[in-house]
Amino acid sequence: MNKILIALTILGLCAAANFKCTAEMKTAKFCTREYMPVCGVKMTEKGSSKYSSIKTTYANKCTACVEEGVEFYAVGSCEEYPKEANFCHPEAHLDLACTREFFPTCGLFDDSITCTQGPCGSNFSNKCMACINEHVSYFLTGFCHHQEQYQQ
Ligand SMILES: *[C@@H]1O[C@H](CO)[C@@H](O)[C@H](O)[C@H]1NC(C)=O
Repeated sequence: MNKILIALTILGLCAAANFKCTAEMKTAKFCTREYMPVCGVKMTEKGSSKYSSIKTTYANKCTACVEEGVEFYAVGSCEEYPKEANFCHPEAHLDLACTREFFPTCGLFDDSITCTQGPCGSNFSNKCMACINEHVSYFLTGFCHHQEQYQQ
């Protein structure tokens, strides 16, 4: 019983919408050619370490993570996401606090939250507040406008 609880707790702590490239993945000697596209994300040089919009599609997570500068990846090709998507760093939800500045942000959830039509989003008061939610994969600037903004 205790073991189950501990396992669940650890899973809970590790759960994030996107996936961090581990040191092991970054130094992989070779990658298979399997096509399981991911959207690899590089952080900006001087910008925040919590989110980034510098992204490229890779054939699989191995080829993404061996690429210099790729810190984490989102599931699927980048083309499956809006061009303006800013992806949350997988560790951004471990932050303990956010400022309360008000910069309306639309946070889009990962597959753990499903909507009947298109991606699910929620309004957040700023980027930090969006990314501190472990189910938010990426965000767009401004309020969510369900119809126009992210329905296909
Ligand atoms: C976000 O806020 C805007 C403006 O108040 C509103 O029109 C929209 O329905 C809200 N979207 C969600 C998903 O809550």
